[in-house]
Amino acid sequence: FTSNLDPNDIEKGTYDHFMLKEIDEQPFVIRRIIQEYEKDGNLHIDPEIIADVKEADRLYIIAAGTSYHAGLIGKQLIENIAGIPVEVHISSEFIYNTPIISKKPLFIFISQSGETADSRAVLVKIKKLGYKSLTITNVEGSTLSREANHTLLIHAGPEIAVASTKAYTAQIAVLSILAYMVNEDNEIDLHHELSLVATVIETLCDRKELMEELARKFLSETRNCFYIGRHIDYYVALEAALKLKEISYIQTEGFAAGELKHGTIALIEKGTPVIAVISQEDINLNTRSNVKEVRSRGANTLVIALDSICAGTDQVVIDDVHPLLTPLVTIVPIQLIAYYAALHRELDIDKPRNLAKSVTVE
Ligand code: G6P
Repeated sequence: FTSNLDPNDIEKGTYDHFMLKEIDEQPFVIRRIIQEYEKDGNLHIDPEIIADVKEADRLYIIAAGTSYHAGLIGKQLIENIAGIPVEVHISSEFIYNTPIISKKPLFIFISQSGETADSRAVLVKIKKLGYKSLTITNVEGSTLSREANHTLLIHAGPEIAVASTKAYTAQIAVLSILAYMVNEDNEIDLHHELSLVATVIETLCDRKELMEELARKFLSETRNCFYIGRHIDYYVALEAALKLKEISYIQTEGFAAGELKHGTIALIEKGTPVIAVISQEDINLNTRSNVKEVRSRGANTLVIALDSICAGTDQVVIDDVHPLLTPLVTIVPIQLIAYYAALHRELDIDKPRNLAKSVTVE
């Protein structure tokens, strides 16, 4: 009888876990986003939204968890492509520790579920202050979507695993389109660049054996782990640490590579895994020298790098994509390594202890 079956389990298809299915869906999701945001062969966003963004003197991104990390990448995209200053705030902090707000702000809420109580509380607050808002969400008709002035959907499809994967990349892809549409004079062929990203993610998803081996080699014995990166890779390191710790329970921290020496390097012992993300040419050598520093103190180092700046010893080499879009590809091996680390530990990957998919209490 099927009555005892969880309908979600049926949708898992040939996968043992939703997380792996959702990681694999990312190329498809990126392509669907391109389609959904296309009109007459060009990328398109409701002109009213673009007008409100352009009118703002500062954007305030408000989010929690993985969505907050997507917001940090969004700041890079918007500031670099659209030239509008952006602040990114953790919703639960913004409520009490509200910064001085600019004269013409626009608030952007990023939330997979559209229901996170901490973010909802901020929306209530800023609405009372008379400010405009835009919600970027996966769930049409969700509370944050209904209560904001505008909504942009991320079209990731239902995300069941508690650890967010495809919603994160979808949020970043939509933020890139938003940044792009705000500055029509930019010289990026975003349509092409996002298609390339989808192809590169596909090649990474085809390298599961390597990721499983790396998870076994670097993470099977350890109780702690560090991710390091500079510039945009630092934000990826934060998301990487969250991904690994939430499903494998390995205590993991994401660090700005240059900051490690100011204290945290004291924690490096023989065998401590340190995973470096290197996607940008201008930071390549500096981050590599940080890798050397920790290796000389006994760390087990693993480097994830883009092809054009890779070294012969890097364990994961990723085909090049546009420098501003590297977080969409560097995160994929990280998601897979986290998945296999948790799998080797025989943990409940889709429903980690103490966590909920959507947190509706403050
Ligand atoms: C929970 C989930 C996280 C998620 C966060 C924000 O803590 O476990 O995976 O990133 O909420 O959720 P949201 O739906 O607002 O993106």
